[in-house]
Amino acid sequence: MTPRTHEAQDVQALVESGFSKLTEACFLLLRVRDAAAARVWLGTAPVTTAADLHRHVPVAMQVALSAAGLRALGLPELILAEFSAEFLAGMAGEAQRSRRLGDVGANAPEAWHWGGRSTPDVLLALYAEPGGLAALRASTATQAFAAGFTTIGDLPTSDMQGREPFGFADGISQPSFDFAGRRTPGTDADLAYGNLLAAGELLLGYPNEYGRITDRPLLDAGCPGAALLPPAAEDAGRRDLGRNGTYLVFRQLAQDVQGFWRFAAAHSDAVGLAETMVGRRLSGAPLLPPSAAPIRGVGPDPDDIGLNGFTYAADPDGRRCPLGAHVRRANPRTGDMPGGVQGPLAQAIRMIGFAGAGDPRDDLIASSRFHRILRRGREYGRTLPPDQAAATDTAPMPETGLHFICLNANIQRQFEFIQNAWLANAKFDGLSGEADPLLGNREPFPAGQATDGFGRLCGLPRFVTVKGGAYFFLPGVRALRFIAGASG
Ligand code: HEM
Repeated sequence: MTPRTHEAQDVQALVESGFSKLTEACFLLLRVRDAAAARVWLGTAPVTTAADLHRHVPVAMQVALSAAGLRALGLPELILAEFSAEFLAGMAGEAQRSRRLGDVGANAPEAWHWGGRSTPDVLLALYAEPGGLAALRASTATQAFAAGFTTIGDLPTSDMQGREPFGFADGISQPSFDFAGRRTPGTDADLAYGNLLAAGELLLGYPNEYGRITDRPLLDAGCPGAALLPPAAEDAGRRDLGRNGTYLVFRQLAQDVQGFWRFAAAHSDAVGLAETMVGRRLSGAPLLPPSAAPIRGVGPDPDDIGLNGFTYAADPDGRRCPLGAHVRRANPRTGDMPGGVQGPLAQAIRMIGFAGAGDPRDDLIASSRFHRILRRGREYGRTLPPDQAAATDTAPMPETGLHFICLNANIQRQFEFIQNAWLANAKFDGLSGEADPLLGNREPFPAGQATDGFGRLCGLPRFVTVKGGAYFFLPGVRALRFIAGASG
């Protein structure tokens, strides 16, 4: 695979690859026990970069740091303050944020396995070809590593062969990125749904869908060690600590596979119901045929067109794919000005992602190009086929689910917007009384509004429970070396 990012040797490989051939993986949650020793290890940690992807890569290591971790490593507060507010606050750091994310009731951070009461400092992601993980773990656990870190969590993963635990094909729809900067966002072409996004929606230091460079940590060029970092694109007097980095959102989501299929089995067409809740067939096939017009950023591979070359324009009432189906909520595939929005002011409001009241459909389904994420999750636990999961005499399963991971340049506008406005909210696309059928916590949200419906059904049980989570910064390699050297 040829790297597509310009500065591939500076970009952690996860940005370009989900390491699908490295089917063994684990996520180590680390606490800094000795800052000086931790910095020494980070200064030479063998991080796999996008430049490595042109050759055979049998193992990979990625390093991400939380705000608590940057602080524990001794990064000066003045530099820390340059990171985004939501990253600094943390996923579970504020009651308001928890409410918006749906992390209340059974999902409340107080009950999480990790990340609820205190955030891990470092996320170390290890990936290996079949049979290779044990050796990678052993080679990572050097004396230098142990001097710097305590492992406070060790999250295993399972290879479910491209399916998530409910049994659906996963990892199908992903945005593609215009690393070459050929496209100009915000032209008439964006009136139609597109799947090709500005690089700055993923990587810090590049123009985003607004044509601006997303806020990121910049330093005075005179700061010790700053010469390691590239100059900021818009201000040569400053150095860019963000460039080629991105924010990594991690959520451990336990799935009640038996509850899901037993609920579905109580209805005449169990698989049909499950497929409408997801919005795709078990095989991953979409519920809608490909659009007549090509979609920018989809294809030319016919498989890609078959799986991702559709929009919901021909299905405004959700007859083929329910308006509230998981994939339709997670990416409503609208262009900039979906039906009925006229006039420059209304269009401007739509374009920044906040539509007003009035028509009940004129809600938060604004243009999808500002709210996309790159998913890099891995499954954990046991596989159980739907018919066995639906049987009432099967033994309870060990905890099984998804280590949901996504990358984005702006956690608030991308991950948090999707999670809050599109998935958790009862007010979506004219719907009421329901939230995401897979992910909803079934608590009233916003205040007093029921969320346990789905179409004509009501009383949906909770199928997914949040068990942990945190926000991390996945730095560029130069930024990682700077953090290792400049702190203290
Ligand atoms: C256990 C939890 C989850 C399950 C079982 C699940 C399952 C799925 C499945 C089966 C698909 C369709 C296949 C694909 O396109 O890859 C999908 C798509 C997607 N999911 Fe999830 N998902 C979960 C959590 C989440 C979360 C937490 C988010 C975001 C906050 C999310 C965002 C998306 C997005 C953006 C898509 C692609 C939609 C599109 O572009 O058509 N998912 N998910």
